Amino acid sequence: MTPVKIGILGLGTVGCGTVNVLARNGTDIAGRAGRGIEVVAAAARDIERERDCDTSGIRLTTDPGVVVDDPEVEVVVELMGGTETARDLVLRAIDAGKHVVTANKAMIALYGNEIFERAHARGVMVAFEAAVAGGIPIIKAIREGLAGNRIEWLAGIINGTGNFILTEMRDKGRDFEDVLAEAQSLGYAEADPTFDVEGIDAAHKLAILASIAFGIPLQFDRVAVEGISGITREDVSFAAELGYRIKHLGIARRMDNGYELRVHPTLIPERRLIANVDGVMNAVLVQGDAVGPTLYYGAGAGAEATASAVVADLVDVVRALTTDPENRVPHLAFQPDALSDHPV
Ligand code: NDP
Ligand code: HSE
Repeated sequence: MTPVKIGILGLGTVGCGTVNVLARNGTDIAGRAGRGIEVVAAAARDIERERDCDTSGIRLTTDPGVVVDDPEVEVVVELMGGTETARDLVLRAIDAGKHVVTANKAMIALYGNEIFERAHARGVMVAFEAAVAGGIPIIKAIREGLAGNRIEWLAGIINGTGNFILTEMRDKGRDFEDVLAEAQSLGYAEADPTFDVEGIDAAHKLAILASIAFGIPLQFDRVAVEGISGITREDVSFAAELGYRIKHLGIARRMDNGYELRVHPTLIPERRLIANVDGVMNAVLVQGDAVGPTLYYGAGAGAEATASAVVADLVDVVRALTTDPENRVPHLAFQPDALSDHPV
């Protein structure tokens, strides 16, 4: 069978990570997907710059629209970031009947309701595993592994940059700004790192998790948000003296009259598992009524950890290409006609 041809918008940290994982593990991935996956086109702002991946054989352009419109491209992988342009390109791909894979939590949190509705109407998939908790397959775990449960609550460390900063401040007494600069150079931080340190990135992810866990529309603007920018080295070391760790958590709970969504720094006793999740690692606790508590742990950011989730989505999409559209994995847990009557 001929490989499925994909186009990638963005050849930065995650884009190049994806190209590298596809190249290195291509045979295994093809075995799992049922067909090979070939990157035929990609967009970046500067196509002359040397990249961290081999782009030979890939048609490069500075115009992401060219990739979306490329008749050979069957699946569009959006790894550019940003919201407005990314949304427009994703909708354009959907309108052209192309499946989409994205790691863009900001775009999904802000425009996911519109995007999923359009994708539903057009019968294409929009997959976004990489948008939450980097390489941890948390979307799949909640949507598929816990499909028989009523999810009561979930809570987790869902921003790798913030957790890396808090860990380095505690263990090495380093300055906030110095660790943030390192997180940026390692490719963990968002293009605008205030998203990481002010809790906005975690709030994007929490809105997505809550949507899947509770079957409600995305409601990012209803999340209560506090970041870690006000935390000092003294706060971190006083907490440690008292037997606590400061962790930045995202928490979503089912309430009697709706749902509570909040992200903020939290004091956690150091004997708790989640208090010992350090560095760029993320962890998410999910409480289901049937299964009880479950815990998911892994790298929350970085090139290949995130690419792992992007490629897993690609495998799902490639399998779906050979499946009846009626039997495809749904995009989100809620039905598009239930968008307005779930207060948060
Ligand atoms: P980068 O900044 O490293 O890469 C972005 C890429 O998109 C670059 O190659 C850039 O080109 C290209 N690009 C941006 N805008 C345009 C445009 N208008 N036209 C053409 N090309 C464009 O970002 P990341 O790889 O870190 O992140 C990508 C997405 O993945 C974001 O949505 C992010 O939130 C998400 N994500 C990131 C994770 C991480 O660990 N980094 C983890 C999980 C999700 P050029 O290189 O020439 O500047
Ligand atoms: N900036 C994000 C983080 C990338 O640090 O968690 C992964 O979503």
